[in-house]
Amino acid sequence: ADRNASVLAWFKDNGRPLPWRLTTDPYPVLVSEVMLQQTQVSRVIPKFLIFMKSWPDVDSLAAADTVSLLQLWSGLGYNSRALRLRETARMVASSGWPDSITGLKKLPGIGPYTAAAVGSISFAIDVPAVDTNLKRILSRWAGEPLSGRELDAYAACVVGEPAGDWNQALMDLGSAVCGPRDPACAMCPVSTWCVDPTVYEAPRRQTRFEGSHRQLRGALLRAHLAGDSLVDTGMALNHSGAEIVTAINSLASEGLLD
Ligand code: ADE
Repeated sequence: ADRNASVLAWFKDNGRPLPWRLTTDPYPVLVSEVMLQQTQVSRVIPKFLIFMKSWPDVDSLAAADTVSLLQLWSGLGYNSRALRLRETARMVASSGWPDSITGLKKLPGIGPYTAAAVGSISFAIDVPAVDTNLKRILSRWAGEPLSGRELDAYAACVVGEPAGDWNQALMDLGSAVCGPRDPACAMCPVSTWCVDPTVYEAPRRQTRFEGSHRQLRGALLRAHLAGDSLVDTGMALNHSGAEIVTAINSLASEGLLD
């Protein structure tokens, strides 16, 4: 079996049962893709369901009033997306769906990624839909950070078919297994073909506490080195006595105050 066969088999068993995946109709697929452009899946699911109930087809969205549309959209952010989506619905209502990537890209609010997503899922056009998940995963497959034309060329080379499934498989793989940090390679269906899973590993985010604790330790160490009072230094930075003691103890235990 090859890498893409493994990707597609994994998706069959582990793909998320998302509401927009019950159909390949371009209208719900486009609505979901536009919502997902800047908003995470868990926030999109309820909005998508209400949206499809309110405006179940292109004609109803074309006639939607602005206030209702923006009210529903609130919480998703980037409200102009909703108006562009309605504009697209109006164009499709009068001229029908374009069935090529070039045609899809001419619709308002539909860029290269969204055109590829809708084209592959709804029109069976076998093109990769390159988003940040694909960028990260394909870079790991290649063993080096890919971007721009190099990324597009690599994606075109390795895309699996049907690309609608392959694209969505990689989105789910990126979410469940091949995340930006600590990829779960032991669970990955394609780890044997992956050159370097550490490519594009995001730096670990510091919590506010870690940030301020580190800052305190740095200030205390500088005070120690300058011969100033450690407690006075910590108090001046508004840290509690307990925090200051903890920091001094940890610095001391690491030999930094010797
Ligand atoms: N993000 C963008 N498009 C998606 C899709 N079709 N499924 C899951 N996540 C996505």
